[in-house]
Amino acid sequence: MRGTTGALIGQARAALAAARIESAGLEARLLVAHALGLEPASLLLGSETVHDAPLLPALLARRAAREPLALILGRREFWSLDLAVSAATLVPRPETETLIEAALAARPDRGAVRRILDLGTGTGCLLLAALGEFPAAWGLGVDLAPAAAALAAANAARLGLAPRAAFLCADWAASIAGRFDLVLANPPYIESAAIAGLMPEVARHEPRRALDGGADGLDAYRRIVASLPRLLGPGGVAVLELGQGQADAVAGLAREAGLAAPALRADLAGIPRALILEGDPPAAAALGKKTFGVAVRDE
Ligand SMILES: C[S@@+](CC[C@H](N)C(=O)[O-])C[C@H]1O[C@@H](n2cnc3c(N)ncnc32)[C@H](O)[C@@H]1O
Repeated sequence: MRGTTGALIGQARAALAAARIESAGLEARLLVAHALGLEPASLLLGSETVHDAPLLPALLARRAAREPLALILGRREFWSLDLAVSAATLVPRPETETLIEAALAARPDRGAVRRILDLGTGTGCLLLAALGEFPAAWGLGVDLAPAAAALAAANAARLGLAPRAAFLCADWAASIAGRFDLVLANPPYIESAAIAGLMPEVARHEPRRALDGGADGLDAYRRIVASLPRLLGPGGVAVLELGQGQADAVAGLAREAGLAAPALRADLAGIPRALILEGDPPAAAALGKKTFGVAVRDE
């Protein structure tokens, strides 16, 4: 494609509108900027300069096939961090920022959080945002997908957080020993049967491993919540993302695991999104495990 910035945006908007993309105007602008290698804010709409944009048709075709815009652009902002994203894992969602808000509200003393664990780290969004907010902390991000763990490590390096972050390819916390001050997790929580009915951007383009919570959506919570009593150090707190309508069920799992009365934090839409679970110091001490450092278990 070839034309002035305004003409390219007009053609892109028409192509996206024909594919029934809702925010066709905004996305056209972002895709034209990406095709030209420019920041969106630097597009000069009134300019008569003619640009060649040979990549633009392929970018528009990908979006018309419902590939998420963030995957085409290769980046997404989360908690004001510019993160690389890929098809290896979920594109970070705005509502997931509720977990960081909840962690900050639960632990206002920023220097007191020293060890952070992020289960199902994906892009690393939660761990990296938390490391930015808790400057004395070191963090471990775990993901079953090697490509996701590698993506998170690359994001940590780009953000200058690599010295305080490590990433492990593992099955939830099965291979993690040691205690943490803060455990974060946004697990897959969609009921298996509901995935096919999700918007095509999600159902067709995001990995099933990042979405599928089993028949009732709670499989990952069962595993994660059961491991929390041994993962939380004295005074430790876990913050888990919830799918809509899952608060009671996951809080019930927490109570069964012996965790203190849970609290909830709602997202901007008013949906209970973060479950805050305080570790039980006496019970944690009774387990007799060491309360510092992290080791990989041999089991
Ligand atoms: C819903 S995504 C969340 C990604 C990221 N934390 C976020 O909030 O955007 C869930 C992540 O859990 C990972 N995952 C799925 N099963 C896992 C398992 N058994 N052990 C560790 N990670 C797993 C997926 O690969 C995916 O990256």
